Amino acid sequence: MEIIIQPTAEAATKIAARLVAGVIREKPAAVLGLATGSTPLRLYRELVALKLDWSRLTTFNLDEYVGISPQHPQSYHSFMWDNLFRHVNVSVKNVNIPDGLANNIPAFCESYERKIFSAGGIDLQLLGIGTDGHIGFNEQTSSLASRTRIKTLTPQTRKDNAHFFGSEEQVPHHVITLGIGTILESRHCLLLAFGKKKARAIAEAVEGPITSMNPASALQLHSKVTVCLDEEAASELKLQDYYRWVFDHKPGWQKI
Ligand code: F6R
Repeated sequence: MEIIIQPTAEAATKIAARLVAGVIREKPAAVLGLATGSTPLRLYRELVALKLDWSRLTTFNLDEYVGISPQHPQSYHSFMWDNLFRHVNVSVKNVNIPDGLANNIPAFCESYERKIFSAGGIDLQLLGIGTDGHIGFNEQTSSLASRTRIKTLTPQTRKDNAHFFGSEEQVPHHVITLGIGTILESRHCLLLAFGKKKARAIAEAVEGPITSMNPASALQLHSKVTVCLDEEAASELKLQDYYRWVFDHKPGWQKI
């Protein structure tokens, strides 16, 4: 894992944006795995400002709430169109977001997995992290080999996401999410985390044992993971100084 610690979320996001832009420029028909929530908002603004060519890219979103329509203001469909897709030249037919209204959820999840496979697999998977260590909506005790499926949100995650909906009661209980096994098949994972409330989850994910009690810790099994953090999210890492030294002394030929 490469751990990049920056003074602010703005600075950490700029590095993440460079990485994503590098992938898009190098492989114009790349397959991107995308996340929602507060964490990637600034990154999406940066990417829009870079005016990259999205016309040949394919995207797969990590997750969606079950039982709300794509037009619902808090659906991840709305989130993605409002914050990214509407502002870039992505082709609608290349955008994939789980269908929260699918009649047959297991069949839908299987077809989502097949679509990722047929697209050639995910080149770069963007991830945020929950305060409990979830990635996608793979909550604690999710199988580390899991595939795309329905999951039930924990009370903590519903509480954390209440601000999007106005109240906790309105946060759906169920979601469709890419599995941890699916995420681990991406060629490169980019995990972003900002703020003090993510510090514990990050420390456990990066330096703790691999455990389904912190689903992000499964990323330790992946050979190419970049973690972009601000100071606060990095504050509980034991080897902070080491990570800073490594980043500051990266040989010029090594890309981010
Ligand atoms: C969203 C997702 C979740 C979020 C996580 C953090 O697509 O996959 O894992 O990344 O819940 O959410 P924020 O960024 O709102 O703190």
